[in-house]
Amino acid sequence: MFNLKFATLASVTIGAGLASAQQLTLSSNCQTALSNVLTNADTAACLNPSALVSVALNGGNASIVDPINNWLTGFCNAAPCSNDTLSTATRNLLSGCAADLGPFSEGINADEVVAQVQQIFPTFRKVACLKEGNSLCVTKVLTDAQNLLGTLSINNAMAVFAKARTLTEIPTNITCTNCVKAAYNIVKQDFPDAIPSQDVSSVCGASFIDGNTPSGISQSLTDSGNKASNNNAALAQSVLGGIPVVGTLFASAAFFML
Ligand SMILES: *[C@@H]1O[C@H](CO)[C@@H](O)[C@H](O)[C@H]1NC(C)=O
Ligand SMILES: *[C@@H]1O[C@H](CO)[C@@H](O)[C@H](O)[C@H]1NC(C)=O
Ligand SMILES: *[C@@H]1O[C@H](CO)[C@@H](O)[C@H](O)[C@H]1NC(C)=O
Repeated sequence: MFNLKFATLASVTIGAGLASAQQLTLSSNCQTALSNVLTNADTAACLNPSALVSVALNGGNASIVDPINNWLTGFCNAAPCSNDTLSTATRNLLSGCAADLGPFSEGINADEVVAQVQQIFPTFRKVACLKEGNSLCVTKVLTDAQNLLGTLSINNAMAVFAKARTLTEIPTNITCTNCVKAAYNIVKQDFPDAIPSQDVSSVCGASFIDGNTPSGISQSLTDSGNKASNNNAALAQSVLGGIPVVGTLFASAAFFML
């Protein structure tokens, strides 16, 4: 259970998110909220959303691995989002999309969600910006998953998801790599109780949980940032035609919190 979840979480949640989002029609309030988040200069500068748009626009059959790689490359070069920016974006989405969240929205306390997003964001950024050699770790994991499961594309999402469900075990040369160990170390440090160590060592061996930094891994994020992207109004329009991306993010985020 652990290994399936651990190894495929990125690929499968993206696939599932895309698949379900294709059937999803967001309310106009929610679309406006999304558009505001995407066009807001602060979020644009720290989240690099314009690069994500290309995931939506790349055609249903094309792999999403390269667009995600491009998005993360920009995201890791940008200064981190401030707590204020995260708070504003989260509150706008929660209130604009309350109807879309349906019954889920009733139990939601906006202050708590904002605090969680603020707590998780630095960890997410550190994990998302890990590199092995010249490649981002996320890209490596997605590429490995793609080789195992088939093209990670919008149109192929259901097939990928179905294939993942037939596997009882993901090979350890995908789950227990140096990239995954480095990510595990970061999560363990920031959220010590999030992942039971014994589950991890039973799959990847004792050395996986020794806390040592694996060789060949580096951190590519920058804390100053050198990127000021904005003027995303036209892109926001495109994104509203490509809502799947946003559904993906929601689905992935939800999965990460499970
Ligand atoms: C995607 O692939 C399917 C099946 O091969 C094909 O029928 C369809 O035209 C393709 N769509 C695009 C946008 O290329
Ligand atoms: C951001 O908010 C989180 C929780 O709400 C807090 O733990 C963290 O210290 C804050 N970061 C900064 C830079 O103020
Ligand atoms: C993992 O091992 C299998 C079987 O030895 C091999 O076919 C596959 O290419 C390997 N995958 C990676 C990512 O190294």
